[in-house]
Amino acid sequence: MSSDVKPKAGLEDVVAASSAICYLDGARGVLAYCGYDIHDLAQGASFEEVCYLLWHRRLPSRAELGDLQSQLAAARPLPEPVIRLMKGLPPSDGMDILRTLTSALAHYDTDAADNSPQANYRKAVRLTGQLASLVATYGRLQAGGGPIQPDPALGHAANFLYMLTGTRPNALSTRALDIALVLHADHELNASTFAARVAAATLTDLHSAVVGAIGTLKGPLHGGANADVMRLLIELGEDAPPDRIDDAIRSRLAKKVKIPGFGHRVYRTEDPRATHLRRMSRELGERAGNTRWYEMSQRIERLVTGEKKLYPNVDFYSASTYYTLGIPVDLYTPIFAVSRVSGWTAHCLEQYENNRLIRPRTDYLGPQYPQTFLPLDQR
Ligand SMILES: CC(C)(COP(=O)(O)OP(=O)(O)OC[C@H]1O[C@@H](n2cnc3c(N)ncnc32)[C@H](O)[C@@H]1OP(=O)(O)O)[C@@H](O)C(=O)NCCC(=O)NCCS
Repeated sequence: MSSDVKPKAGLEDVVAASSAICYLDGARGVLAYCGYDIHDLAQGASFEEVCYLLWHRRLPSRAELGDLQSQLAAARPLPEPVIRLMKGLPPSDGMDILRTLTSALAHYDTDAADNSPQANYRKAVRLTGQLASLVATYGRLQAGGGPIQPDPALGHAANFLYMLTGTRPNALSTRALDIALVLHADHELNASTFAARVAAATLTDLHSAVVGAIGTLKGPLHGGANADVMRLLIELGEDAPPDRIDDAIRSRLAKKVKIPGFGHRVYRTEDPRATHLRRMSRELGERAGNTRWYEMSQRIERLVTGEKKLYPNVDFYSASTYYTLGIPVDLYTPIFAVSRVSGWTAHCLEQYENNRLIRPRTDYLGPQYPQTFLPLDQR
């Protein structure tokens, strides 16, 4: 394309799709799914209600929610060959395992080759049920235990914790994870959702689109940041005195090293999701009798916000929240995917509904055209 058309670096503020799913106002710190404010959803809705909302663009009745819960429960048992494959893979990052096994799930999905709206909806539900089972089973194997069969009587968050630990979780842990899943479910045209929509716009299958999204979420600038936050806290040390924390953060900032869990492409004020995760980190810490990770996080927040005017994003307080829930660090980004698969699939369903291939242009910066071609023996 002619070089007088310049791209916006990182497509910042470029509107690249029309969508009825997620409303985001970065200046005011507003996030809403299909018009419902995230604060109301975090307070009053379960993850399953949010899934229904994203897929149908309206909240479910009690009967509709019951049907969805049954469909999710039916989807949760993993195909035996997928569990065998998981056991046979070499030690790998949790996101790599999730990417490979989500791809493998397509081979056992009876709707895999069917791109009708009905089949795609069934696959959206199935993938949402199965991804949670994949991550919980992976965590279980990592901890040296055997896979645990899902309990159809449990909701999505409780069943995840049960399959991960082998113990039925208490109400506080269940609600904390449920809220985290609600908060992570969708976020407009974030990088992984954009990747999913680009894939869906070729009319490829839903599994392929979700696999692309998982690979995109893995990056440290996106979902990978939540695990990096916890690694940073652990590196600083649970007993780190305040001045050591300050020095470590200041020295990183001075060297222009990014502090994971801060900054956002869209929000210019507090990420509304961080408000809930901060509170949960504190409440869970108090309940566990150890608020140290929360206090360290608070200290880092005061410093980074004070010195750089950067606010914590969804990943910052997820780290101490998940840690206090006893979830291994390697599962933090996969848990993001366990929730975001609802948003990815909702966006793909929307893309399929009114599709046009997504095919932008580049601003060409290479050698001038035309170059004289020399055959191999003359170069
Ligand atoms: C989220 C993120 C990728 C947004 O990126 P972006 O919109 O492209 O913003 P930039 O990376 O261009 O950052 C703009 C400025 O803020 C600084 N900045 C952004 N995030 C920062 C962070 N977490 N720590 C320190 N400085 C940061 C950049 O160094 C840059 O400074 P400069 O203008 O002096 O060079 C970025 O803030 C980041 O990398 N955060 C850390 C990773 C993270 O938490 N990701 C999860 C996002 S939900």
